[in-house]
Amino acid sequence: MARLFLSPPHMGGKELDFIRDVFDSNYIAPTGPMLMKFEKRFATFTGIPHATAVSCGTAALHLALRLLDVEQGDRVYYASLTFIGGVTPALFEKATPVFIDSDPLTWTMDPNLLAQALADDAKKGTLPKVVVPTDIYGQSCDLDAILDCCKPYGIPVVVDGAEAVGGRYKNRHCGDGALMAAFSFNGNKIITTSGGGMLASHNPKLVERAHFLSHQARDPAPYYQHTTYGYNYRMSNVVAAIGCGQMEVVAERVKRRREIFTLYEEALTDVDGISFMPEAPYGQGNRWLTVILIDPAHFGATYEDVRLALEKEDIESRPLWKPMHMQPLFKDAPMVGGSVCEGLFNQGLCLPSGTEMDEDDVARVVSVIKAQKK
Ligand SMILES: Cc1ncc(COP(=O)(O)O)c(C=O)c1O
Repeated sequence: MARLFLSPPHMGGKELDFIRDVFDSNYIAPTGPMLMKFEKRFATFTGIPHATAVSCGTAALHLALRLLDVEQGDRVYYASLTFIGGVTPALFEKATPVFIDSDPLTWTMDPNLLAQALADDAKKGTLPKVVVPTDIYGQSCDLDAILDCCKPYGIPVVVDGAEAVGGRYKNRHCGDGALMAAFSFNGNKIITTSGGGMLASHNPKLVERAHFLSHQARDPAPYYQHTTYGYNYRMSNVVAAIGCGQMEVVAERVKRRREIFTLYEEALTDVDGISFMPEAPYGQGNRWLTVILIDPAHFGATYEDVRLALEKEDIESRPLWKPMHMQPLFKDAPMVGGSVCEGLFNQGLCLPSGTEMDEDDVARVVSVIKAQKK
């Protein structure tokens, strides 16, 4: 039987046609009209009207911090339950990440803890320059609550929506409403360009400036002139062609991820000791990955026992993101709360969730999990 991967790429079929267009036009090196088409399609899909495509989600988040003049000594608030790619941009700028625990009902940044942290920091004169909540596993943070917390202090919010393409918050796309939102098209994401990212905003000036910085900050002159420094963060026109193909199927992909979640849920709902990542009442996540919690006291085995049993059957699963405050790299970083995301990490397992999986594939995973029940 073929190996079941956690979240492999799933091409829609039109990607090669778009790539062929790029080759026919010879816009290979490296910008061109396909990039603009991809950005436009992405903006239309998300409803966030301005977007610039870059080499990865990490680059998009780095550009956002540069645009907000984050610099040495500044503090940046992050959800502790996240992937490090969202956080390293603070380190690039020698800023200090401050981590906030999750709300147990959504697993995203807890707005109450955020409010408390801001009030404490306001008293000490150490308010953060920016707050970066993550839409974890494609579930939106409670963005309006977070914006309400930050507004009195004039602190901007940048959403790390790397995992959240196609996820909804209230009646809008994930990240819509923040000053900026960053998305990833890494190979494991719900749609992929093999590697890539997007920075999106309602503010055209910010997106224009991000585009400028992502192209080595070249001043408009016939020669190479620079009044500031930038990065080589642009996406290539060839890669954007894959993105255009993926945009044709993104809505289908979200629907299928959610169906796969439901299949797992139906099959495992009565198993004592297994529970699922809850869906926040304010939105509809993209269920990028189906995540379960395994309580060993009731299930009789740990998530690691289950992971190893799956691996033996050539099925890839993965523990939850290890919270940032538990990482050796961040052992001295300030942390607000912590017990919620630690608890999730101690029991969480991400199951294969690729959109090419069929009912038999899900049943194969479920039977291995059930066999571990004591
Ligand atoms: C939450 C989160 N933030 C940031 C990133 C970084 O994105 P990329 O890998 O495209 O740089 C990822 C994914 O890889 C992610 O899952």
